[in-house]
Amino acid sequence: MFLQSILIIGASSAIAKALANQLQQQPHTQLILVSRTEQILPFDNVLQTTVMDYTQSSIENAVDTIQEAIEAPLSSVYICNGLLHNNTITPEKRLEDISLSSLQDVMLTNAFTPMLWIQKLTPLITHKAPCKLVVFSARVGSISDNRLGGWYSYRASKAALNMLLKNVSIEFKRRAKNVKVISFHPGTTDSQLSKPFQKNVPASKLFTADFVAQKLLDIVDKAEVDGEASFIDWQGNKVEW
Ligand SMILES: NC(=O)c1ccc[n+]([C@@H]2O[C@H](COP(=O)([O-])OP(=O)(O)OC[C@H]3O[C@@H](n4cnc5c(N)ncnc54)[C@H](OP(=O)(O)O)[C@@H]3O)[C@@H](O)[C@H]2O)c1
Repeated sequence: MFLQSILIIGASSAIAKALANQLQQQPHTQLILVSRTEQILPFDNVLQTTVMDYTQSSIENAVDTIQEAIEAPLSSVYICNGLLHNNTITPEKRLEDISLSSLQDVMLTNAFTPMLWIQKLTPLITHKAPCKLVVFSARVGSISDNRLGGWYSYRASKAALNMLLKNVSIEFKRRAKNVKVISFHPGTTDSQLSKPFQKNVPASKLFTADFVAQKLLDIVDKAEVDGEASFIDWQGNKVEW
């Protein structure tokens, strides 16, 4: 019998997989994974919903599937999607590097897609039991911390995400009092996303996904449902908005 359900979206991410590996060991926990990649973890207590893409209709279909399959209240949701680079997108170093399509793609993945999920999941996370809603942001999305510039699309998308999450927390304070909103900075973590930018990172500052996942689970466990959005890093320290 399941006592809680936990949902991980963007489950192919290195950090998401590490989270899933640790969470699937928790007793009485139904783990639900969403990704464009099939079969992330081959365990009996893990339900995987594969999405073709993250369009509004794919998200609605996935939420319908989750609603039918879920057997216990959601105690936490992790939205891990993030786009920094791909075959056509490289983080901008200067104004001349900016392209409308990169700005749109990065903004869509990093800021708008998490919002579509939150909108559709609201009925599923609004219940008497507390639910921790964790969305992966990044310190470079902090406006007050921006001293280096560059990475226009990625920085702007994470700043936009943070503003959207702050708004969500204000609305949830009225209508979903048991939801805690966390905007999470994992620190530089070894993954596909950080791979091209790791060479100047000292070994002690490049984390494994397992380490970050462990830290995050501890933070989520201790987080109080206080009606506020928290922007926090892997150490549990506040990041300036
Ligand atoms: N690694 C770091 O150093 C670092 C630092 C600061 C913040 N972060 C943030 O932490 C989160 C996880 O990062 P990671 O390093 O674990 O990344 P990763 O291993 O490269 O995983 C990429 C993630 O982004 C999703 N994704 C990629 N392209 C997408 C697209 N076009 N549309 C929608 N989703 C897309 C993937 O979803 P599917 O499962 O569907 O493929 C997957 O969840 C991201 O939000 C990232 O911005 C990472």
